[in-house]
Amino acid sequence: MASKQYRVGIVTASDKGSRGERFDESGPAIRRIVEARGYAVASYRVLPDEESLIADELRRLADGDLCDLILTTGGTGFSPRDRTPEATLSVIEREAPGITEAIRAFSMAVTKRAMLSRARAGIRGSALIVNLPGSPKAVEESLGFIIDELGHGLAILKGDDGECARGNA
Ligand code: MTE
Repeated sequence: MASKQYRVGIVTASDKGSRGERFDESGPAIRRIVEARGYAVASYRVLPDEESLIADELRRLADGDLCDLILTTGGTGFSPRDRTPEATLSVIEREAPGITEAIRAFSMAVTKRAMLSRARAGIRGSALIVNLPGSPKAVEESLGFIIDELGHGLAILKGDDGECARGNA
């Protein structure tokens, strides 16, 4: 669990979800996982798979200092409408490739289709943005695998902990 309570923004990218044609199960799955570890959910929005809208939302959450961690779900695959990685790349200042490498490495042991996720992660200002795949199952597997290490990364990013040696698994 993070020692300080960090704020999480959840962004679900889903055309059907944004039109109310599909109930979003993945955003609530993120909420359950982060709240169980002591994070506070500061924002949750379901947006269509529009690169500019997703990028605007990432900027709103990061630049307004509304969130420390922004987790997106959906839109990382090969559909022509899957634009979440492009939106993320357009706003991050420093990429954090190890996070999505870790997700894919772990997920490949579950399903080889994990190779089809183009998810990216990176830092804008003092906010960490991580793309997760779209299904609630993929969210649980992916976020469940990285969540404990994210706390350490956030502590360093926010200047709450400069010490890496402590707590190494
Ligand atoms: N990762 C995990 N852990 N579990 C999964 O079931 N599904 C994959 C992949 N990553 C999956 C996963 C599939 S089938 C696809 S197409 C890609 O994520 C992209 O999903 P998205 O377009 O919903 O973001």
